[in-house]
Amino acid sequence: MALQSLSFEPRIEAGAPLVAAPARRQAKLFALPRAKPKILFATSEISDFVQTGGLGAVSASLPRALRASCDVRVVLPGYAQVLANAGPLLVVERLPGYAGLPPCSIAAGATPDGLALLVVLCDELYARDGGPYADADGRAYADNDVRFARLSLAVAEIAARGAGGWTPDVAHLNDWPTALAAGYREWRGVGAPCMLTIHNLAHLGEFPVERLGALGIPGEAFGLDGVEFHGRVSFLKAGLAYSRHVTTVSETYAREIVAPARGCGLDGLLALRAGQGRLSGVINGIEEAWDPRADRNCPYQFDPPRWKSRYADFVRGVFGLSLARAPLFAFIARFAHQKGVDLVIEAAAEIVARGGQLVAVGEGEAEAGLRDLSLRWPDAVGLRAPFDASLARAVFAGADFLLMPSRYEPCGLSQMYAQKFGALPIAHRTGGIAETVFDGRTGLLFDVPERRALEQAIARAFALYQAPREFSAMRRAAMALDFSWSRSATRYVELYRELGGGAGAAVG
Ligand code: GLC
Repeated sequence: MALQSLSFEPRIEAGAPLVAAPARRQAKLFALPRAKPKILFATSEISDFVQTGGLGAVSASLPRALRASCDVRVVLPGYAQVLANAGPLLVVERLPGYAGLPPCSIAAGATPDGLALLVVLCDELYARDGGPYADADGRAYADNDVRFARLSLAVAEIAARGAGGWTPDVAHLNDWPTALAAGYREWRGVGAPCMLTIHNLAHLGEFPVERLGALGIPGEAFGLDGVEFHGRVSFLKAGLAYSRHVTTVSETYAREIVAPARGCGLDGLLALRAGQGRLSGVINGIEEAWDPRADRNCPYQFDPPRWKSRYADFVRGVFGLSLARAPLFAFIARFAHQKGVDLVIEAAAEIVARGGQLVAVGEGEAEAGLRDLSLRWPDAVGLRAPFDASLARAVFAGADFLLMPSRYEPCGLSQMYAQKFGALPIAHRTGGIAETVFDGRTGLLFDVPERRALEQAIARAFALYQAPREFSAMRRAAMALDFSWSRSATRYVELYRELGGGAGAAVG
């Protein structure tokens, strides 16, 4: 089948001129040009160098999507992986120690495609074997409070005094590892306003109250309106308390977290922020490279519909499964309770009994349960742990269905990757899933994260597999969805401008 014969829905590209030429000329004459907002994007992981989850993917793709309309620099710790791979770094600032936090330097650099980086150099804290938060055996570093307080204080200092002559208009913080920057900014009383994005509210960044002094947190801040959370210090709570604005990664999750069931004990404060108009949901996008038509990493040329079945057989081969003509289900996630890994393990028997196959790619606490399944049904169940990004990509391309029974999912990226690669999500209608998967049109949704509901959705999947025309229509509809960053990047730029970014622009 030729590519053109696929009826992809037309896409309206953001930024495409919607006005005729004379109107645009007018705009050029009369609109006051505004300077690009200068955005300091603070993160503890970026997939260019080191990634443990969705934050790393978003930290790589959102700043790149913002580049057209913002002067954006990504600030991150100088992990060993960054030092080894970031190319030349030029030290532009030296920051003194503070309380129990050691001194550090700020070095400027760039990725090969020109994304500007500010790297916080402090080898004793960051240049280690292992990941961003834990050693090679998965044990959290004992000094994570100092590591991420140091990062946060560096962010606050750049927000106040700049780095290498560049001072941001807004500091965009992400999750607990950079959230304390809003506190330092508040306590010092100077600097660009902070905006905090919550990628996962469950990670509060909690430490014992005895650490206050070492972290340079003033005693008065240890209260209901500050960093205190059930008698401990929470970096994320500091971010909520002191940021000018808070966002999270879908509108649905923004509504979910203001109620106790999903609020992780912070629902009261979040409801207050929502009431003040200071909490919004902005759905994540995904990189354009997640498109089999444009994917340079695809070993098989995009050639529907054979492309899909070639990948399926490739995946079966890699996992040692039989070359069955039956639906192939995938589970690509952290093997964690949040992701509903226990429900997948329970539902596996149903898939196998109906003649289907299941492959799992990831790592985490429930690995042993999945391994048991693969030993019990070696022809029908496969496991790859630890996570392997390029194999995961092939599995998205080969799978018919992606299982995603997440108990909660702030945004979720896998359901978007899957749809782009023609695998239909079977997913719990929660958070960002509710906004990116369309039940009966591009995937199969269920309303309670329980075994029975998942098994019923799996039964629907088998029925769909028996109806090839309907199945391939859904697959085409899924692949035609637009998950680009354009609309969400525009929303972030609006928020930055509301916070003051680029407002005092030169009239030129
Ligand atoms: C976290 C969330 C996930 C979200 C990602 C990026 O990993 O659990 O839902 O997609 O962050 O924002």
